[in-house]
Amino acid sequence: MRVLIFSLCFAFSFCAFGQTNSSYKEQYRPRFHFSPAINWCNDPNGLVYNNGTYHLFYQHNPFGNVWGHMTWAHAVSKDLVYWKHLPIAIPEENGIMIFSGTCVVDKNNTSGFGKNGKVPMVAVYTGHIENVNQSQHIAYSLDNGITWTKYNRNPVLDLGKKDFRDPKIFWCEPKKFWVMALMFPVEHFVQFYSSKNLKEWNHLSDFSPAGDTTGVWECPDLTQVTVEGMPGKKKWVLQTSQNGSMQYFVGEFDGTTFTNENPVNKIVRPDYGPDYYAAIAYNQLPAAHLPTSIGWLNNWNYANDIPTTPWKGAMSLPRNMSVKKINNEWVLLQKPVAALQTLRTKEWEFKNETINETKLLPVKSQQFEMEIMIEPSALSTSGVRIAKSGNSFFEIGYDAAKQLLYVDRSKSGVRSFNKAFEKRSRFETTLALHNRQLQLHIFFDHSIVEVFANNGEVVLTAQIFPGESDNGIELFNSSGKSKLLKSTLWKMKSIW
Ligand code: FRU
Repeated sequence: MRVLIFSLCFAFSFCAFGQTNSSYKEQYRPRFHFSPAINWCNDPNGLVYNNGTYHLFYQHNPFGNVWGHMTWAHAVSKDLVYWKHLPIAIPEENGIMIFSGTCVVDKNNTSGFGKNGKVPMVAVYTGHIENVNQSQHIAYSLDNGITWTKYNRNPVLDLGKKDFRDPKIFWCEPKKFWVMALMFPVEHFVQFYSSKNLKEWNHLSDFSPAGDTTGVWECPDLTQVTVEGMPGKKKWVLQTSQNGSMQYFVGEFDGTTFTNENPVNKIVRPDYGPDYYAAIAYNQLPAAHLPTSIGWLNNWNYANDIPTTPWKGAMSLPRNMSVKKINNEWVLLQKPVAALQTLRTKEWEFKNETINETKLLPVKSQQFEMEIMIEPSALSTSGVRIAKSGNSFFEIGYDAAKQLLYVDRSKSGVRSFNKAFEKRSRFETTLALHNRQLQLHIFFDHSIVEVFANNGEVVLTAQIFPGESDNGIELFNSSGKSKLLKSTLWKMKSIW
């Protein structure tokens, strides 16, 4: 009996508080991206700012390194760079898994959960009963998100459906009510609801299928963002996730209906790489703070098989969002948050060099940030290879004839752990040059590559699993004389 009690206490403390027992030095372990110390993670949940603290909840399996027992785990940050693990926030219970959702600080105590002047944080998530039902539930915290109480009259919204999930809520000031976006995954549309108290919800409108209507739609996110170069002007961005990829729509939300202002069949993506999913934006950031989102860096087609242990899954660098019109269509711009610059250490600079075939840089690293400005010669393919040793490398290239930016992981590291991963090796998107120049902003973090191009007009994110000594960096150019106008490279500190 004593042994049993001891084991239970040990198991409990491990789940509740044992989130930090990793060296964060394992092979493939990202050093400046968030990842759980141990076990599985997927979607970011409940991103909210409260009193100087950024909260990051996320889908987590406290019992293993594959998907299961979905629970909200919790971490906090003061700067979106360094993260601290906190105890599990909302656990699976009575056969109801805690699926994705969001969180708000209910400053006016509209929910009535506040007590003795304590402001409640309210989480809304999908209660998932495997193969039976998905409905919307709420829970509240009176101690800044550390401990949570599930509402005793859950669910707050149940249509009796098997697939109906991933609530995103936010306060709509002009209408003085809460808005909730919810996904009809199979039917490919987003529903909007309103509520005065976070408990009773009224249907407002539906956003019809548009853009990419393949696969299963998940995780709607509606966020208001600034328009680049037009101070005071704002637009609404609706992001959805499907088929290992995401897409976005840009337009207006009048408190009832979202109207997409891009062509209905047009498919535009926040990330054209294989490993950016379920991104949502922070709620309740201070007025001067740029809208900021975080996505999960993995892909359901192979997520459970990636060769990382004792954890699986990581979060993207937090990205500032804005929009601008290019060729009369709205384009989402994303930039890594400026606070990441505090991690920069040693710096190399290269200027005005011609790239003939290949040029190996005098730097080796699997943990760096690099800004690079190239003038690709006509009809050439040029760019940079990282994680290089011998014939093994990850290629980031620009095909000037086709105006295509691509990433290619077909020659990089371990790939055979999953057929779907092996198959998904090259990703590309069209991108026009500005003044004949290509600007790349690259982050490489052991098994994660995030590439922001032309000031965030296009982003490509991919996982790779290179050997630890695959750490060379090489510029390449297929023909003509591509020019390296300038490049700066910083090795990055670890946040752990
Ligand atoms: C997206 C998703 C969500 C769901 C969660 C379950 O990655 O499938 O739709 O709520 O993950 O973990």
